[in-house]
Amino acid sequence: MMKVIVVYESKFGNTKLVAETIGEGMREVGGIEIDINELKEVDPEKVTEYYAILIGSPNHFGGPTKGVKKFIDKLGKLSLEGKMFAVFDTYLGKRSDYFFEKAVKKMEKRINEKVRGLKRIAPGLSINVQEMKGPLVEGELPKCKDFGKKIATKLKT
Ligand SMILES: Cc1cc2nc3c(=O)[nH]c(=O)nc-3n(C[C@H](O)[C@H](O)[C@H](O)COP(=O)(O)O)c2cc1C
Repeated sequence: MMKVIVVYESKFGNTKLVAETIGEGMREVGGIEIDINELKEVDPEKVTEYYAILIGSPNHFGGPTKGVKKFIDKLGKLSLEGKMFAVFDTYLGKRSDYFFEKAVKKMEKRINEKVRGLKRIAPGLSINVQEMKGPLVEGELPKCKDFGKKIATKLKT
């Protein structure tokens, strides 16, 4: 069976919830084995065992977390030609001292620059939260499930 790994960082649980809901959507499509892991538990080398990787990060100061950036850089040292990726983020985006630039854009750029041969499955998903610690803005959770379904369907065709 095709194997997909979802790797995320999450301080308050928002990005974790998004990761798990994307996983639910993918499982609904079926026929794919999905492993969902917190970044700190993942040995980057293990990613070579998967056909696709999804990476999720909370927006920290207008970009992905340091941990996610480092993880992407480590993927760049592996041979992942012909494999697929997609990214997702969560953001607050209201406070004037925050940056509005989407972390997904920066993640996609970094992957393109550093990880040769990894192809994007679909444009990244950005999910808005109401408060720093959640909950998600109403209507955002279904988008996660739909994203999972879309990713799974694209991977299977
Ligand atoms: C250190 C820090 C910096 C943040 N910077 C931004 C930011 O620049 N823009 C933004 O929209 N949200 C920002 N946020 C809000 C988080 O992106 C948001 O709360 C996110 O959903 C947290 O995800 P988590 O629960 O998975 O950790 C920041 C949060 C923290 C803790």
